Amino acid sequence: MSYLTDKLRAPRREAQGEITVPGQMFDDIVAANPGRRTLLRNSLGLSILSVFGATLTACGSGSDDDDDSTPGDNGGGTNPGADYSVNFTPLADNLTPDTVLVPQGYVAEVLYSAGDKCAIGSLGYTGVPQAYPITEDQAGGQHDGMHFYPLEGVDPNKGGLLVLNHENVDKQTLDLGADAVRTNLSNVGVSVIEIARTDDGKWSVNTNSRYNKRYTGNTVYDVSGPAAAAVGATVVGTLNNCASGPTPWGTYLTCEETTDNYWDNTQAEEGYGWVVEIDPYQPGSTAVKRTAMGRFDHENTAYMLDKDNRVAFYMGDDGTPGCIYKFIPSKPYDPANRANNASLLDEGTLYAARFNDDGSGNWVELTVGKNGLTAGAVDPGNYTQVAPGSLPTQTLIDFNSQADVLINTKAAARVVGATLMDRPEWITVGVDKTLYCTLTNNGSRRRTSAANPRTNNSHGHIVRWKERGDSPLATTFDWELLLLAGYDESEGEAANVTGTINGDTFSSPDGIRVDTKGRLWVQTDSGATDADEFGHNAMYYIDQETGESKRFLVGPVGCEITGIAYNDDLTTFFINIQHPNGAWNTVRAGGGDARSATVVVRREDGKPVGA
Ligand code: FEO
Ligand code: CA
Ligand code: CA
Repeated sequence: MSYLTDKLRAPRREAQGEITVPGQMFDDIVAANPGRRTLLRNSLGLSILSVFGATLTACGSGSDDDDDSTPGDNGGGTNPGADYSVNFTPLADNLTPDTVLVPQGYVAEVLYSAGDKCAIGSLGYTGVPQAYPITEDQAGGQHDGMHFYPLEGVDPNKGGLLVLNHENVDKQTLDLGADAVRTNLSNVGVSVIEIARTDDGKWSVNTNSRYNKRYTGNTVYDVSGPAAAAVGATVVGTLNNCASGPTPWGTYLTCEETTDNYWDNTQAEEGYGWVVEIDPYQPGSTAVKRTAMGRFDHENTAYMLDKDNRVAFYMGDDGTPGCIYKFIPSKPYDPANRANNASLLDEGTLYAARFNDDGSGNWVELTVGKNGLTAGAVDPGNYTQVAPGSLPTQTLIDFNSQADVLINTKAAARVVGATLMDRPEWITVGVDKTLYCTLTNNGSRRRTSAANPRTNNSHGHIVRWKERGDSPLATTFDWELLLLAGYDESEGEAANVTGTINGDTFSSPDGIRVDTKGRLWVQTDSGATDADEFGHNAMYYIDQETGESKRFLVGPVGCEITGIAYNDDLTTFFINIQHPNGAWNTVRAGGGDARSATVVVRREDGKPVGA
């Protein structure tokens, strides 16, 4: 969620009962093994060159998704002679521009803003606030997760489909006078747009493409999987479409980061909090809520594929706190017949991650009847948020069916002892199958664990892990902290806000992606007050071997940086600027309507981004 959404949800969160679970707290672990404290402290930053160091050299091919070339798997390295080493000159510290800053030799160009034309015949925003139904066919607000899809017969470096989420509304572009509910709901969801590049390197939206389509909070979605009977055959609306991910078969998974419909509370809560599958190549198709993947505050999905085409989808719950999950479909992906994958996400096994304090990890199955998921189970609540010595309230919960488990996934994960993390945001699978997850912050954490080592964690951290045998089917893994975000040690701030970043410092990592050449990029979403401390929200390159962080892009006033995506040869990065609120990207005379936007970032000399 954006930090703005997190603030809105705080009262409801604080109203929930919470309780201690022994054995999951940092102090419990140290008491059981005093030497562990030294190990944990040393691991905060130094571990980058330890067990993972030898395996993290960037590969020359493949993608963050997998090596196989598939319809949705852009980035196959169609420019094998290009140099993908990272040599840009980092931007300075504490920058507070009201524009998008990029390194020397680069340009940043607005491609698709809130209110722009989307579906054929739509009317674009021109500075006059508009209402439903006009807004139903325009670009939504608060651009977030995004992915580029090649089109058959089109050079993927010259054109393709861009699919992006609209996490929330750009209300400054909306007329909320007469039909506020449907107008707000029209401004969330997903855009599918066809884009093309001219010989001068510039990209633009083809507003006459038959692929262009909006999925909104007013659209009807099918529901499938084990909880479909309980939820209903259809649900009206998707919302809080935060981040996203592709599938090996070229569909788009948009993730609902809310477990209720706060724009239209006449809708049952169970209809929201799901992963929704969209086929961007079939504009006439109906999107489907896939209940087998669980219901929580979904951030994004990232997949790992093995040589037998078995696949796992990794997912974070951006709750305060939340768990990390993976879903393994029962059947392998069929690369030969796309239609055979149409219901692959309806049958499989959901797991939640337990990050043990010795650096090992377990995937704990969330299946009714197993691991305590029975009638009368005790939900310990969000015990990490309760001060030691306080006694939170336990909640009894009945898991009588798999639908019960899936509808109440957060509780199920707590019951089986999954680790409550500091707001899991994006997960990415590297070309060497190392997984990374940003844990954006958790300022109200009161009890720590090794994977979440700071109370009042205002600046967040990044964890990474390797599945045993690099298999998506593994039930165990090994993990370590990549870095703690926050102030540089030289600033002498308190320990809980001092980071271990080697290079350009930042707060609140959120978007993260290892690109198709194995290069790690991180984007930030810190609160407005952090601008004075770290500069505006920004995007960083992080060397996975040395840990050095280099500031690549800085955003305008009030924005979050998110939605990293790229074209096939990595000469273009697509970046989303969410909820700016200064003068950047305004239309109206006198301003006041700064709009969220997708921005193209590229080098003027045509070399890959990073050079
Ligand atoms: Fe929508 Fe968790 O960021
Ligand atoms: Ca996010
Ligand atoms: Ca965020």
